[in-house]
Amino acid sequence: MKKIITTFFIILTLTSVTEAESGKKVFETYCWGCHHQTAVAFGPPFSEIASKRTAEEIRAMITDPASVSKTFGYKRNAMPAFTLNEEELKAITSYILSFKPKTPKKEDPKKNQDKIIQDAYPNIAQNKEVK
Ligand code: HEC
Repeated sequence: MKKIITTFFIILTLTSVTEAESGKKVFETYCWGCHHQTAVAFGPPFSEIASKRTAEEIRAMITDPASVSKTFGYKRNAMPAFTLNEEELKAITSYILSFKPKTPKKEDPKKNQDKIIQDAYPNIAQNKEVK
């Protein structure tokens, strides 16, 4: 049983490694001339795309940029359409989405307000008369 589980995890790890690898390969073969992972090139960076698009939207843009770029609000379409197979599409989509910026958890700005007021102005905080 243990062997089966170990084998399963090894296969799982290998599959995800190869998918990331082939995503990079698709990127280097077809997209590299116009897109950069994190910097603006002729087209927007993958990190920006990943932060605002779903996997379906990215796929649609690759296969039919002429109509999708209009939906995305671009005035003109400068990206050519690509005929990629299912595997390549999957790989490049998850490669793009892997650049999604990690947003730091925002603290509620009012969270510590009461304590700050209490510390700084104990009299006001306790509704005492200020002498
Ligand atoms: C000839 C240059 C060129 C190539 C090659 C290219 N793109 Fe683009 N791409 C653009 C431009 C320019 C835009 C901005 C929209 C437009 O003009 O159509 C864009 C937009 C996109 C968008 C949508 C951006 C958004 O607003 O969310 C995605 C997704 C995308 N590209 C993915 C890819 C992928 C994946 C490849 C490789 C398979 C690729 N592009 C290859 C030029 C290119």
